[in-house]
Amino acid sequence: MNDNLMDKIVSLCKRRGFIYPGSEIYGGLTGTWDYGPLGALLKRNIKEEWWKYTVQLRSDVVGVDAAIMMNPTVWEKSGHLAAFTDPLVECKKCHQRFRADKQDEIKEHEKGHKEKIEWTTPQKFNLLVKAYLGIIEDEQSEIFLRGEITQGAFVNFENVVSSTRVKIPFGIAQIGKAFRNEITPGNFTFRSREFEQMELEYFIKPEEGEGNKWFEYWKEQRMSWYASLGIKKEKLRFRKHRDDERAHYARMAEDIEYEAPFGWSEFEGIHNRGDWDLSRHNLSYIDDEGKKFTPWVIETSGGIDRALLFFLIDAYQEEEKRVVLKLHPKLAPYKVAVFPLLANKENLVKEAKAIYEGLKKDMMIAWDDRGNIGKRYFSQDEIGTPFCITVDFQSLEDKTVTVRDRDTAKQERVEIRKLREYFEEKLK
Ligand code: GAP
Repeated sequence: MNDNLMDKIVSLCKRRGFIYPGSEIYGGLTGTWDYGPLGALLKRNIKEEWWKYTVQLRSDVVGVDAAIMMNPTVWEKSGHLAAFTDPLVECKKCHQRFRADKQDEIKEHEKGHKEKIEWTTPQKFNLLVKAYLGIIEDEQSEIFLRGEITQGAFVNFENVVSSTRVKIPFGIAQIGKAFRNEITPGNFTFRSREFEQMELEYFIKPEEGEGNKWFEYWKEQRMSWYASLGIKKEKLRFRKHRDDERAHYARMAEDIEYEAPFGWSEFEGIHNRGDWDLSRHNLSYIDDEGKKFTPWVIETSGGIDRALLFFLIDAYQEEEKRVVLKLHPKLAPYKVAVFPLLANKENLVKEAKAIYEGLKKDMMIAWDDRGNIGKRYFSQDEIGTPFCITVDFQSLEDKTVTVRDRDTAKQERVEIRKLREYFEEKLK
């Protein structure tokens, strides 16, 4: 049943233009995905909502957008060169490689072999992706694509403090791509080699670091954000990391998990990074009293691709006659679709086009004049469009249209001149 749901999501994503396999026409590239027209819109909406919640609505957080390529010393200092590793094992029979800490994947592989198989002893495998920079081949320098976007916030700590008015406690937020040479990419976009993160590094006084105050505060903030965008509460939970699974930089770590069709899975990590990063980069802070100290960091680190996948899974519903994506209106790729009742009636098309062109200035609008109205509704339901407008013959007489609600399938007549304020209210 659950595999079936994943198959349906993957197929919907391809068919309707949410997500395609990366470089598909050349056989793909494992662990990479391309977002189609609808996926790009959904992704953008997730990022906008996160930025609004994390930066715009707060006075203690500023944003940065740091370079993906960084001086390799960053990765030495951050500890990633030494410790950003996963334990790798190889099946001695077919030489396929797996993560030793993913026992369920290992067991699944063992089932595929008729006889008992042996594994190599686990080896540390560094996840940083290498790249080469420079214009003379022999003199190119080896760099690493960032394995977490985080370091871009830390290396700019002093720049941000000296160029803005922030005072501790304050946060630096960032959205951007990260790259990991994952041993086993899989579960669609869930574990990819190129993905996007949305992160907050929140700097606090060291004496407030040991206690749980800020850690608990940010856990709740992040959980509320997912819930406010409609994720079912019973599908969300916190999971504390065991000592043996915490990242090298973390004193404390908890994940927000989602119950995906492939089991409870990490949505986002909340970490107490202590003074690990700033002290490794030799950075400190001087407060208003002239006291110098190394701040501690509480981090919230979410994956945008994972959020997008889980928002889709959570919104997917099959009803008697239709498949409907009950996406939160703020996330829906198109907010409204406009239809002329009949495609061959010039005056209907003209009126509908005028509405389409007018609303387009405020939001993403879809246009459809193919097939019958019922089919057009179902087509928009499947991509999560919250409202459909139909221009019919009555519209030409009384300047009203029908507005049909995705979730209830109910229709009401609304005056054309009031459409803008109607949607402003409904799409809040
Ligand atoms: N700066 C901390 C950090 O990067 P992480 O737990 O390694 O922490 C944070 O990653 C989030 O990034 C994860 O919770 C997940 O949402 C996303 N993420 C990590 N690896 C990913 C991958 N291979 N594919 C997709 N998303 C990934």
